[in-house]
Amino acid sequence: DWKMASFVEETISALKERIGGKKVLCGLSGGVDSSVAAMLVHRAIGKNLTCIFVDHGLLRKGEGNLVEQVFRREFDMNIIRVDARERFLQKLKGAEEPEEKRKIIGEEFIRVFEEESQKLGKVELLCQGTIYPDVVESGTGEAAVIKSHHNVGGLPEDIGFEGLVEPLRDLFKDEVRRAGIELGIPENLVWRQPFPGPGLAVRIMGEITEEKLDTLKEADAIFREEIVNAGLERSVDQYFAVLTANRSVGVMGDGRTYGVTVALRAVTTTDFMTADWARLPYELLGKASNRIINEVPGVNRIVYDITSKPPATIEWE
Ligand code: XMP
Repeated sequence: DWKMASFVEETISALKERIGGKKVLCGLSGGVDSSVAAMLVHRAIGKNLTCIFVDHGLLRKGEGNLVEQVFRREFDMNIIRVDARERFLQKLKGAEEPEEKRKIIGEEFIRVFEEESQKLGKVELLCQGTIYPDVVESGTGEAAVIKSHHNVGGLPEDIGFEGLVEPLRDLFKDEVRRAGIELGIPENLVWRQPFPGPGLAVRIMGEITEEKLDTLKEADAIFREEIVNAGLERSVDQYFAVLTANRSVGVMGDGRTYGVTVALRAVTTTDFMTADWARLPYELLGKASNRIINEVPGVNRIVYDITSKPPATIEWE
């Protein structure tokens, strides 16, 4: 990929020139955009880049460790992983409405980030993984109106930095992935599906509790595993489990159960502005359903979401 190779080389030397001896801070979410942006800056200035990874406890199973391992161990980046799980759970207590939850998470995220960055002393620049569609969409985008989007990289500019470093501003998503491969980021990170800033909080209907988070993480991990086992992870653009607020009666062995319903969601799309529900093989759906029921306590019913966007959105909240 000579084109990407030259983009990467040129960007790194331009970053070196622009940043000089200044210090840069980056919010790392583990998402593709912030990862690639941070890698570019890291290649340009090494240890003068510090990344803050806020673990809000709303990540998918295994995700926090994956991010930390790749960037700290493999690339030797300066990473501060902030364990803010308890803090977010406390703030979210009692919040049931989607917009309320989004707002709490967005605000708390900025607060944690600010606190951590203040501990670092003088840092002149903030690196963000803004990509071209974000630039075009910002403010007027459909999604911005329907849901108050929160990007983990999307911090306000006014938290005390001299300026912003946004090395991906001219790239589309597929170009960002190609740049990531060029930079040596592992494929399983580069090809990750999009994940909303508020994380699993918008995939649990109603109030967030630790127990519900555990249930959803397990169910979601099983569904993802089965998609991978079926070799479909590249042909379905986004897939995940949702913990509905529904309870229903079931029977298991000789007993009656009264458990929660998990919904599975999988879509194909090119731009995430519209999407079609994925025609997943029945085999796969059956296997995922059986496994979730058998392996995740408290779940006794699985449904598959067959609505497209519009009229539904991809996420349930
Ligand atoms: P919807 O649910 O609006 O989602 O159809 C469209 C795409 O955006 C993702 N999404 C978010 N991404 N911050 C993000 O960075 C958010 O707050 C957010 N909410 C939804 C969603 O996963 C889908 O890919």
